Formats: sequence, structure tokens, C-alpha cells
Amino acid sequence: MTVLVVRGDREFLVEPGEDFGTDLGVLDVPEDVEPGDTITTHLDEPFEVRRLRSPDLFHHMERTGAPMMPRDIGLLVGHVGVQSGDRVLDAGTGTGVLSAYLGRMGAEVTTFERKAEFAEVARENMELAGVADRVDVNSGDVLDAIDERDDFGEFDLLTLDTQDAPDVVERAPDLLADGGFVAVYSPFVENTREVVEAARETGLSNVESQETIQREMDFDDRGSRPSTRGVGHTGYLTFARNV
Ligand SMILES: C[S@@+](CC[C@H](N)C(=O)[O-])C[C@H]1O[C@@H](n2cnc3c(N)ncnc32)[C@H](O)[C@@H]1O
Repeated sequence: MTVLVVRGDREFLVEPGEDFGTDLGVLDVPEDVEPGDTITTHLDEPFEVRRLRSPDLFHHMERTGAPMMPRDIGLLVGHVGVQSGDRVLDAGTGTGVLSAYLGRMGAEVTTFERKAEFAEVARENMELAGVADRVDVNSGDVLDAIDERDDFGEFDLLTLDTQDAPDVVERAPDLLADGGFVAVYSPFVENTREVVEAARETGLSNVESQETIQREMDFDDRGSRPSTRGVGHTGYLTFARNV
């Protein structure tokens, strides 16, 4: 089991039994390493061992397509109420951060990535996340798959993070169970408008778009205020329901 070793702002992923070089010396990771242990380098520098949690995956997965940020995933999950056993159709996989979060919540995820090399990396990322048995990473275009496959059955949730999401939304009523949700993430408002129009035209209900903005707060000796660093806006989330 891959674990995190942490010392201040140093954070590394390590495997049991490996020798891992850090700037504070070499960690000889025991075969039976457990979260909660403290292990030391050959220079006697201690590192805490932690179990990987989903937000750690955002920082440590190998990146391909720009991953959804944990805060946006939180908004998505809150809106649609993902639960164990839900069947999810996801596209495109990209890095697979969203797929991994959903899998770790107990959903059964079928995800499509049209770039074969990205799909390969995503499969390795699902192994790292411990959800390779629950997240099926398919190489190919999701629209082709919708046209060609007749074994999909009904999904409880459709999660889309692609430019062609409006074309998939048009097919949502055929893919979703009664009461199922479609959730689309888009960084741009033009694409969001197209998604909303597609959802309305296809007869989905409860169509709703939200811009996702969060401001981190700074607290220092001078006072308290929203941080002037970083980005407040990440994108838009659009939801609709098959009822
Ligand atoms: C922004 S990334 C997705 C990131 C992902 N949601 C995550 O959290 O890591 C978009 C990905 O969708 C893929 N893609 C775009 N259109 C697609 C389609 N029609 N079918 C399958 N994959 C597609 C792209 O190759 C890209 O890797």
C-alpha cells in the first residue's frame, strides 16, 4: 500500500520496502509500514507516515488533463448526493481526480478518455487511489461509445468535463435513471451556456448553473481579509435532472 511520508511541507509518496532519497537523507521504508508510524532517514531525520486521502491524490497523481479541484468536486457531490453503489458515467477521465474521488465514495464509475496515453496514466492513478476495481477507465471518445455500446444500462449520474459536453447532455435522457443527475464542469461561460441550452432543449429539469468562487482568508497582525493571492474563480458547474 502506497503511503505518504510527511515532514513540514515535504510530502512524498513511498512504497513499503523501498529506499527513498530525500534532501534529509534516505528513508528505508519498512515492509510493514503503517499510517501513524514515524520513520527516520539514515541521518536520523523523522517523517510521519500517513494514509493517502482523496485531497492528497489531487497533489500526487501524475497529471495529464487539468484535474477538477477538490473544492469543485465538493460542490458537485453536495448537489447530486453521490452515494455508495451509484453508477456513474464520467468523461473525459483526464488525470482521473474526479473519477478517483467518486470511486473512493463507493460509486461504480465508467469513464472515457479519448487520448490513449492519458487513459493509461489514469489507470495507474486509479491503482494509486485504490479504486481500480471500481473505476473502469476506457480509452475512446465518450460520444462514440454512447453511439456504439448497447450494454450501458442506466446511470445515476453523468459527470462531464469536456468541451463537447453539450453533445453528451443531449443524450442524457437515454443514459440516466429516473431522477438521475447530469453535472458538467466547464472553465468557460460560453461552453456553460451551450450546456444549459442543450439541457433545456432535451427536456431535463432543474437546470441550474453556478460559478465556483472561493476566497481564502488571510489572518495576520495587521488584520483579516480575503487573500490577494491565487485565483478565486475556477469555473462553472451546471446541473440538470432527469425527472
Ligand atoms: C479537463 S480534463 C478532465 C479532468 C478530470 N475531470 C479530472 O478530474 O482529472 C478533460 C479530458 O477529457 C478528454 N476528452 C475531451 N473530449 C472527450 C470525449 N469526447 N471523450 C472522451 N474524452 C474526452 C481530454 O482528452 C482531457 O483529457
